[in-house]
Amino acid sequence: MEAKSNCPRIGIVTVSDRASRGEYEDRGGPAIVAWLTEVLACDWQPVSRVIADEQPLIEATLRELCDREGCCLVVTTGGTGPARRDVTVEATAAVCEKELPGFGELMRQVSLTKVPTAILSRQMAGTRGNSLIINLPGQPKAIGECLDAVFPAVPYCIDLLEGPFLTTREDRLKAFRPGQKPASSGK
Ligand code: MTE
Repeated sequence: MEAKSNCPRIGIVTVSDRASRGEYEDRGGPAIVAWLTEVLACDWQPVSRVIADEQPLIEATLRELCDREGCCLVVTTGGTGPARRDVTVEATAAVCEKELPGFGELMRQVSLTKVPTAILSRQMAGTRGNSLIINLPGQPKAIGECLDAVFPAVPYCIDLLEGPFLTTREDRLKAFRPGQKPASSGK
């Protein structure tokens, strides 16, 4: 996508040893782009990275996307489980100033209705400066399951972080902003 000034930028980080070595195709990053393309009504620009499960590299990538690339939102996929190489959550916690535990709680709650192993994901969310960082599991089908659950609160969170005004296609997903009149209330 062509760079546009003032266009909201969204970081998309696939954390996977094998995808980063080219041993298999990254399916998570494109699934996040597809989900955001379907849901967002405003212009936006993806800033994508595919990196290995190395904590210093994940931390550096998150800092780069938030601080230098100016991403208002960074979504990661992979590395949230209990395996020795799963360190995305530790990297996210290390770079965030505030943790938002409700994101992980809700994503696990919704995911548990789909798959019992959802309990294995330690996924979290938090803020760094003006950016919101959200972890998703590595399974491509987890991406829609998790984003559908938490995204209604994301545009308002970004408002509170003084980021760009994100809008969604309301027939697909309605963003909730407190104090905003429901479009269909007729009052
Ligand atoms: N959440 C949803 N919604 N759907 C899934 O298929 N897979 C689970 C879990 N969360 C899954 C899910 C599995 S099998 C694991 S091991 C953990 O996420 C961690 O995955 P990760 O290490 O790839 O991030």
